[in-house]
Amino acid sequence: MSDLAALTAQALTEVAACQELAALEDVRVRWLGKKGVLTEQLKGLGALSASERPAAGARINQAKESLQAALEARRGALAQEQVERELASGTLDVTLPGRGEEPGGLHPVTKARLRIEAIFRGAGFEVAAGPEVEDDFHNFEALNIPANHPARAMHDTFYFADGRLLRTHTSPVQIRALKAHGAPIAIIAPGRVYRNDSDMTHSPMFHQLEGLVVGENVSFANMKAALHGFLKAFFEKDVGIRLRPSYFPFTEPSAEVDMSCVFCEGRGCRTCKHTGWLEISGCGMVHPNVLRASGVDAERFTGYAFGAGIDRLAMLRYGVNDLRLFFESDLRFLRQFRTLGA
Ligand code: FA5
Ligand code: MG
Repeated sequence: MSDLAALTAQALTEVAACQELAALEDVRVRWLGKKGVLTEQLKGLGALSASERPAAGARINQAKESLQAALEARRGALAQEQVERELASGTLDVTLPGRGEEPGGLHPVTKARLRIEAIFRGAGFEVAAGPEVEDDFHNFEALNIPANHPARAMHDTFYFADGRLLRTHTSPVQIRALKAHGAPIAIIAPGRVYRNDSDMTHSPMFHQLEGLVVGENVSFANMKAALHGFLKAFFEKDVGIRLRPSYFPFTEPSAEVDMSCVFCEGRGCRTCKHTGWLEISGCGMVHPNVLRASGVDAERFTGYAFGAGIDRLAMLRYGVNDLRLFFESDLRFLRQFRTLGA
C-alpha cells in the first residue's frame, strides 16, 4: 500500500504521454483492466486485517477514480485533436449538397412486355415460358423443321458442342405448352431468343412474343381479329396493319404481319427500309404435324399461332429508331424512359 501514491503518479504520467487513442487504451488496460495494476491492489485487500481494510480500500478506489478521470480527459483531448487534424488537412466541404439518390426505372423492353402481358391476360390468355437453351426437337423437329430442311438456314442458330442450341424463336414454347396442357389452350410466351444476326433492325439477342390458340373451330379470321385487337390496344389507336402471304414450316397457311411505320407515317424512311411498313410478326394456322408432335388430335382441333418482335413493338410505341439502343445500356438513353408510363 505504501507505493500507491507512486503508482498513481506513474499511471498519470503515462496517460499524459499518450499521443494516440490506441496507446491510451493500452494504458487503461494495463492499469485498470481485469489484470491491471490497480485491480490487483484491490485483490490484495483480503490479506489486510479487518481494521485496515476500509481505509486502504477507499484509497485504492480514489486512485482508480483519479486515473479514470485522467483517462477520460485525455481521450476527449485526443479525439478533438484528431478532428482538428482532419479538418485542417482535408478538402471536405460540408456545405456541398449531398449526392442524392436517383430512383431507377424499368427498361423500355420490359415495359412493353408487361403491357403486352396485361393486354393478353385481359383477353383470357395465360403467360407461358420455356428454356432459352433448347434442344433440336423443340426448336426445330417438332415444329415440322426436320434435319436438312432449308428453313433451318434462315435461323442463324447458335449451337452448343453437345447439340443443344440457343432457341432461335419462342415457337418451341408452343410444343412445351401443348404437351403439358393439351387443347384447348390460349397462351402467350414472351422471352429472349438468339440469332447470329445484327444491324439497325436485327440484334443477336432479341425478344419475341409467341401466341398460341388451339381449340375447336379456331379460324384464320379469329387470328386476324386477335392480332388487330392486340395492336389497337397496345398502340391505343387504330393502327394500319397488313397480312402478307408467307411461309413457315409450322403453320399453314402462313402470313407476315406488317404495321405502318410510325417514323415516316408510311412515306418511307431508313428504319422501314423505304417501304412504309415494319414487319412485326409471323403468323398462321398451326400445322397438323405440330399438333400431332405435341400429342393433340389434329382432326378435332385447329389453332393459330403468331411470333412477334417485342423489341420492334417497343421501338414503335416509344419512337426509337435503332434497335441496338435497347441493348447498349447507355444511361442517357435509358433515363428517358424512367418516368414514362407503360
Ligand atoms: C419466327 O421466328 C417464327 N417463329 C414466328 C412465327 C410464330 C410464325 C408462330 C408463325 C407462327 P421470324 O423469323 O420472321 O419468325 O421472326 C418473327 C419476328 O421477330 C419478326 O417479325 C421480327 O419482328 C422479329 N425479329 C426477327 N429477327 C429479329 C432480330 N434479329 N432482331 C429483332 N427482331 C427480330
Ligand atoms: Mg421473318
